[in-house]
Amino acid sequence: MNAPQPAFNLMDPAFVRDPYPAYAMLRARAPVWKSPMGVWVLTRYDDIAKLLKDQRFVHDFDGAISDPRNRGALREEPVYKQLGRSMLLRDPPDHTRLRGLVAKAFTARRVEEMRPQIERVVNALLDGLAPRGKMDVIEDFSHKLPVIVICDMLGIPEEDRAQFLTGYRVSGRAIDPTPMTQAELDQVNANILAGRAYFAKLFELRRKEPGDDLTSALLQVQDEKDGRLSEDELFANISLLFAAGHETTTNLIGNGLLALHRNRDQWDKLVADPSLAASAVEELLRYDSSVQLTSRKASVDVEIGGQEIKRGDEVICLLGAGNRDPEAYENAEKLDITRKNVRPLSFGGGIHTCLGAQLARLEGEIAFRALATRLPGMRLENMDNPQWKPTITLRRLEHLPAVWDVA
Ligand code: HEM
Repeated sequence: MNAPQPAFNLMDPAFVRDPYPAYAMLRARAPVWKSPMGVWVLTRYDDIAKLLKDQRFVHDFDGAISDPRNRGALREEPVYKQLGRSMLLRDPPDHTRLRGLVAKAFTARRVEEMRPQIERVVNALLDGLAPRGKMDVIEDFSHKLPVIVICDMLGIPEEDRAQFLTGYRVSGRAIDPTPMTQAELDQVNANILAGRAYFAKLFELRRKEPGDDLTSALLQVQDEKDGRLSEDELFANISLLFAAGHETTTNLIGNGLLALHRNRDQWDKLVADPSLAASAVEELLRYDSSVQLTSRKASVDVEIGGQEIKRGDEVICLLGAGNRDPEAYENAEKLDITRKNVRPLSFGGGIHTCLGAQLARLEGEIAFRALATRLPGMRLENMDNPQWKPTITLRRLEHLPAVWDVA
């Protein structure tokens, strides 16, 4: 007889608002679960950490990028063509080549050198906001900071930035495990084509006037014309850096600030000692990660937790569930910014471990320290029922209104 299926519905709006009870139920009842769609779902920390390091799990199994919506005709859609050429969805040897080239330009030294610039950007934003006594944390702060930082790193001129600073938001639906509507697909494709048109202009500029930026560095590699980086790969990977470089960090700050205020004692702790900001960032990454899942395909039959994953099967790793696994963390459901030995799954693991983790941590640390120092009396409005965007892979708020008293 078949075991009863856990009630787990990714499409449920209640799941978007708070996925953690569903994660806990699944982890307790069926930690290696085959959904009715035939996709495996992992919720335990150790299973996920091991799988991400296991090169028997791949993205491009049999030419099908690791994502159920991405088969057949969808593969020809501009969005999936582009995503499929980014390192994020490539396997070795392509992944090794692409990541190697980008990593050579995106060095730890380059990131650390951004520190004073990130501090300047944070202070300038808060100088403008503080006298107002209110802001939408997402629109006015947490979106702007990483956009400015990634524009600086990619050599995007100041005069071109307005479009990215105001309206532009990554859809995120393209990397969800649930299918997009035609209207969403059209919108995502239109964004991809607009992005491509903009980057073509940027490449032309940086070929003529190279700077000390990532785009110029990657164009140089491409211009060596020895087949190391094709034009399409260049577009795909610069677009990946641009999108991954801001959307996720926006939500680290948004989700993190919400978590700190919902657990006010933790905000008070940070206000009392802003030097806790770096450790707070690790815990906030764990507690409510801006990336909740990733997926792979088995290239051979593999056993996990007593279950037989067959060659070609898809596996979703719920990073957000692993992060709250009681086997990995004591009081895993509790936010504690002084927690020791936090190793969140939020940046993934194995060969695809987030290339921007150091930058994201730095931006987060500087942002939380500055917020706690400069706006210690901040209060969030509508904290109990904030507006979440309807995406599952990326966990993110639409708005987060905040107020404070102005002296
Ligand atoms: C809080 C912020 C961030 C989070 C939670 C995050 C999360 C992740 C995760 C989970 C992956 C691995 C996905 C997988 O294995 O399928 C990843 C990959 C990646 N991230 Fe991030 N990221 C963040 C910020 C950034 C930033 C700031 C950048 C760049 C400026 C960046 C660039 C990348 C790139 C290029 C990859 C692909 C690496 C590869 O495939 O080898 N990320 N990120």
